[in-house]
This record gives sequence, structure tokens and C-alpha cells, in this order.
Amino acid sequence: MQINSTEISFSENPEINEHLKEFVIQQQVYRAAIKEIKTKFEILDEEFEAKYDHNPINHMEYRLKSPKSIVEKMQKKGLEINVDSIRNNLTDIAGVRVICNYLDDINHITNLLLRHDDITLVRKHDYITHPKENGYRSLHLIVLIPIFLAERTESVPVEIQIRTIAMNFWATLEHQLKYKAHNEISQNLRDRLKSCAESITHLDDEMQMIHKEIKSEACLNVECPV
Ligand code: GTP
Ligand code: MG
Repeated sequence: MQINSTEISFSENPEINEHLKEFVIQQQVYRAAIKEIKTKFEILDEEFEAKYDHNPINHMEYRLKSPKSIVEKMQKKGLEINVDSIRNNLTDIAGVRVICNYLDDINHITNLLLRHDDITLVRKHDYITHPKENGYRSLHLIVLIPIFLAERTESVPVEIQIRTIAMNFWATLEHQLKYKAHNEISQNLRDRLKSCAESITHLDDEMQMIHKEIKSEACLNVECPV
């Protein structure tokens, strides 16, 4: 079924509604995948706290893509809207955002997560080493995780965004500003936003170094793990 933009309001299109209803049932699987990933990160964070007296994760955020956003994205890509097509073409229905305290924490928890036997890495975008043109920085992973259901096992994609508190501060405000300006931001404001992103990069580096120095000073007095 190919649909065009005049049919974007899915509530008025019974055929799309039927497919979406079926998909809403399928959403349970994506919810389960979010829970699994969230638990894995929580366990890693707790292990770090117990062993090293340090929490790499500041907090996490989650979201399940809404049926409206799913329809919009499928239409933008010119794809058919049915359960299989949605499942095969969208890898960001389940989203987990992990906000770390320090820069080093990002690679640490990423490497530890990817060591899990049940996690398959599908795609990695390192926008920290290679920031986007506008200054956006984060590490993006698409992973597959098995979800064990009563009658079958499904391999479910989850989009994971890992960033520091500072990167999250910039990305959240930049997203809100873009939304308010209906994506039309002047070159001057784009330059200033990029300059803010550069200041934040400097802050992250500096905070990381301060943290390392404090840790090594503390280790002069007590026995510390490596
Ligand atoms: P999408 O179709 O948007 O999912 O793009 P993509 O599949 O090419 O993925 P990409 O890695 O570019 O971005 C995925 C997500 O990262 C977005 O939905 C945002 O949450 C976040 N993101 C990417 N670029 C930016 C940006 O410039 N600013 C902000 N604030 N967030 C961004
Ligand atoms: Mg997306």
C-alpha cells in the first residue's frame, strides 16, 4: 500500500489505521527491548559504583516512537505502511538515551555493552570524534537484542544515543530552538550555536581532566583500582 501526503492523517484513513492498530500490539516488543537495554546499563552502572565508587551514568531517557511519527517517517521515505515494512525499515522505534557524567564514561559503557553475547551491533555513528556540521555531538548505536516471547524470539532494534551532560544540554536546547524557529535559523545564529557546541567540547575535556586528577590524588592515600 503506497500512500501520499494528502493521506497523512492516519486517523481518517481506515486502511492505515488497521495496520497501525496491529503495530500498536507489536509495540509491546519494543517496550520490552527498551527495558532490557535499560537494565543492562543499570547493572553496568551499579557494578562501577560498587567497584570504583564512580557512577558513569548520570541518568537515562527512553522513548517509544509514536504511531504519528512512524507514519510521517514512513511517508517521508516513500515506504509502504504495514507492520512488516515498519519493522524492517525503522530502527529507531525504541530509543534509549544514556547521559554520562564524563567523556571517558561514554566509551567505557559502550565497550562493556557491546561485549554482551546477546547484543548485535548494527550501526555505530561517532558524532563525538566527527561532530555534525552544526556542532551536534553524541555516540549513536543501533543494536539488536533478542526478546523472548511465549511462542517465538524476536530480534528487536534499539537506537541508543550516548552523550555527556554537557552534550545533552546543547542538543536539548538546540532541538527546542530549531523547533521554535520552524527549522529556519539564520546563519548568524547557526554560527553562535556551533560556537556554544565548541565551548561545551572544551568544558567536557576540562571536567574530564579535573576528575582524573582528583581521582589520582585520592589514590595517593588509599589503595585504588585501576
Ligand atoms: P533520523 O531520520 O532523524 O533518525 O536520522 P538518521 O537515521 O540519519 O540518524 P541520525 O544519527 O542523524 O539522528 C538520529 C537522532 O539523533 C535524531 O532523531 C535526534 O534525536 C538526534 N540528532 C541527530 N542530529 C541532531 C542534531 O543536529 N541536533 C539534535 N538536537 N539532535 C540530533
Ligand atoms: Mg530518528
